[in-house]
Amino acid sequence: MSRIAIFGAGYVGLVTGACFADLGHEVVVRDIVPEKIDALRAGHVPIHEPGLEELLERNAERISFELDVQEALRDAEFAFVAVGTPPTYSGDADLSAVWTVVDELPSLDHPITLVMKSTVPVGTAEKVRANLDVRGLSGVAYVSNPEFLAEGSAVRDFLHPDRVVVGAFAAEEAARVAALYDGVETTVVTTDVASAEMIKLASNAFLSTRISFINEIANVCELVGADVMDVARGVGLDHRLGSHFLRAGVGWGGSCFGKDVSALKQLAGNSGYHFQLLSAVIEVNELQKRRVVSKLEKHLGKLRDRTVAVLGLAFKPGTDDLRDAPSLVLASRLLAEGADVRAWDPVADAGHLLHGVTFCDSYNEAVQGADAAVIVTEWPELVGLLSADVRDTMRNPLIVDGRNLLDPDAAREAGFAYEGIGRPSPSPDTVPGQSVRLP
Ligand SMILES: NC(=O)c1ccc[n+]([C@@H]2O[C@H](COP(=O)([O-])OP(=O)(O)OC[C@H]3O[C@@H](n4cnc5c(N)ncnc54)[C@H](O)[C@@H]3O)[C@@H](O)[C@H]2O)c1
Repeated sequence: MSRIAIFGAGYVGLVTGACFADLGHEVVVRDIVPEKIDALRAGHVPIHEPGLEELLERNAERISFELDVQEALRDAEFAFVAVGTPPTYSGDADLSAVWTVVDELPSLDHPITLVMKSTVPVGTAEKVRANLDVRGLSGVAYVSNPEFLAEGSAVRDFLHPDRVVVGAFAAEEAARVAALYDGVETTVVTTDVASAEMIKLASNAFLSTRISFINEIANVCELVGADVMDVARGVGLDHRLGSHFLRAGVGWGGSCFGKDVSALKQLAGNSGYHFQLLSAVIEVNELQKRRVVSKLEKHLGKLRDRTVAVLGLAFKPGTDDLRDAPSLVLASRLLAEGADVRAWDPVADAGHLLHGVTFCDSYNEAVQGADAAVIVTEWPELVGLLSADVRDTMRNPLIVDGRNLLDPDAAREAGFAYEGIGRPSPSPDTVPGQSVRLP
């Protein structure tokens, strides 16, 4: 059992803290936002993450929450950095929160290992090491331990990871951090700090590349009459390729992919290499978010004064995270086209991000009188759209399924005009009883 301080009570910090407590460690989570600490002390979890609340409750006696740095570090053997590293205007990672933690690290009378869980550019470990040494903190060990959890399944991902990556300057420092995961069945990849940092960036870049790749395949499928769902299945069954991250849709989002792909592209550029593939991955994704607009126009003509229900706002189901969510781009595009936008999400609150949108408490309310319903986040309850009630309440029963959640035949049989992503779709003019061009 070890004593662990975690800096950052966000998605990664809280999940890491709760899971380490569950593994038997004593954990203190420190954040700089007093309201967050107050809420956590009162037993309220400020984010939506399945299983997290129960885990925190179950381990309440081994986890506490702190505002004060000194208090958090009292007796701590490990200090995990789990603060945000958002993009700057240049596309590089903003490491100001990371440096604040490093700069605030006091000289302690006991040995401590600083562990980087935040996603940082390659080279950060060397810079932090040099900084610590200059400040006379050579006794502070430094280990890179990037995190691969996905929001929506973060607790499961942390406790059942595909691998744990530990990058260190010295083998015994790596071993100390690896030992914290005793009880977790996984492969530990031990390497140098630069490689550990690169493993994280390369993983996210590759996942994003797969999605942009299948989205481009989907766009070609639409032109040649193939169905991307069958294509992805047939491709994914090849053991050399695998089936994950081959789901076509309205593009990837979230707090990590965009910033990490951009950070890797900038890192390469700053180091003298033009990473062309990543430029394309990013551009494909930007265009993909906007393709829904032309699908709507195909059925409705100009979108001015049309009512469009945007269903799902979080960047993916199972989370309330709106960072870089495709819904934000799509809703903004629709507003710019003059559409009346109504939106629904079961957990994400986008009121402060989208002005001019009407937010509804249920998807049934959002589709009332709508000319089209667009599935942007595949919340499972949206399969309930295919009902006679929903069809009859819409002014025009058109569904644009941005996540290929629904069965196209079932949708058409239920009396909806249906557009998926990368799936054959009859022209609206040739399908009797399907979507009509409104005057
Ligand atoms: N969210 C994910 O799915 C995910 C997955 C893997 C890796 N990561 C990486 O983990 C890091 C954290 O991501 P996140 O989504 O948890 O961020 P987040 O924004 O949810 O949380 C960051 C927290 O750090 C706090 N903070 C800022 N400065 C602080 C300081 N000096 N001391 C203590 N706390 C401070 C903030 O108040 C906030 O609560 C990022 O580098 C991210 O790229 C995120």
